[in-house]
Amino acid sequence: MSLLPKPHGGKLIQNFDPSYNLASIEKEIIIDAIALSDLELIGVGLFSPLTGFLGKEDYESVVSEMRLKDNTIWSIPVTLPVSTEVAGTLEVGEQYKLNFENEVYGVIKVSELFEPDLKKEAREVYKTEEHAHPGVKRLFERGSVYVAGEVTLVKKPEKGVFGDVWLEPKETRALFEEKGWKTVVGFQTRNPIHRAHEYIQKAALETVDGLFVNPLVGETKSDDIPADVRLKSYRVLLDNYYPTERVQLGVYPAAMRYAGPREAIFHAIARKNFGCTHFIVGRDHAGVGNYYGTYDAQHIFSNFTEEELGIKPLFFEHSFYCTKCEGMASDKTCPHGKEDRVILSGTKVRELLRAGQLPPSTFSRKEVVEVLIEGMREKTTV
Ligand code: ADX
Repeated sequence: MSLLPKPHGGKLIQNFDPSYNLASIEKEIIIDAIALSDLELIGVGLFSPLTGFLGKEDYESVVSEMRLKDNTIWSIPVTLPVSTEVAGTLEVGEQYKLNFENEVYGVIKVSELFEPDLKKEAREVYKTEEHAHPGVKRLFERGSVYVAGEVTLVKKPEKGVFGDVWLEPKETRALFEEKGWKTVVGFQTRNPIHRAHEYIQKAALETVDGLFVNPLVGETKSDDIPADVRLKSYRVLLDNYYPTERVQLGVYPAAMRYAGPREAIFHAIARKNFGCTHFIVGRDHAGVGNYYGTYDAQHIFSNFTEEELGIKPLFFEHSFYCTKCEGMASDKTCPHGKEDRVILSGTKVRELLRAGQLPPSTFSRKEVVEVLIEGMREKTTV
């Protein structure tokens, strides 16, 4: 019997049907890249137990209570927004093809159309109504009517350079079993892997069987390092510094919400669906700017029991390289002062990389930095 956690809600949703008969469905809804990724992730069960875009009752319950209406923990609304004009052309009970850039990827059977309270969603989910927050900005831009309904994925989006590292939950589950891992820790990132990430991953790996390095490669804000460049950096890092038999790389093709604490719960649930037993939450997980406190994304877990969540969060303090300790450390393990610590902000690092300058090796491995500089150079000369 498998020791991996059951999918969230008990069953791995599989709503993919490439032979779906589209001939009888005339009308379509044009969707954006985020809706396409949500459609795919619902279809392959990464968002189990969701089988479609949320209806009003589920939506309101998720926004206010972090639970679906049947009480299952769910912290981020997964919705299909359209404009009021488009909504005016849609009918409840009808089926629509879901079209992204002239390709049909799915079908929705519309069960409801409703107007969300976007300001409330912003306040509850993102903890701010400020449009300077990238998640909030996107929320207000995407459309003011939500289309609810069950979906079927009929075509999987091309994965390009991510092809060999996009493993669906059913595949990761089989792989973890095959490797004999009884405990697996999942690691989310939207950044290149720096020494601090490596430190907390390896500290976690000391106590479990396997590490699932699971970078997010869906939509991110424009100043984050592009996912294809990051992928090269992950490969070179893993090849040089990680034991192959204990580490698996796989991408997480979801959009980044930047919803800090709420997104940490969402990230943990998706990793449970991949089959992870543990999930790393460090400092300011899924945060942006100064919208969330350093450890808010850890504190939010105290709202739920581990039994109910079904995956164990592993919390890590802000870590850094200390020149006096001559190693990675955190406030918990290092007695020295700020002046001895190598701490660079993401913005500072991106500035250095764009200028072709190397951040210190105490911050990032040389091999990683070289790949990033090269990747950024190629992007700017295209
Ligand atoms: S995130 O948006 O994907 O969370 P990032 O890629 O920076 O951003 O972080 C990935 C994971 O590493 C998160 O769990 C985050 O909390 C953790 N983390 C990032 N930097 C540090 C650090 N210096 N010390 C401890 N944890 C960190």
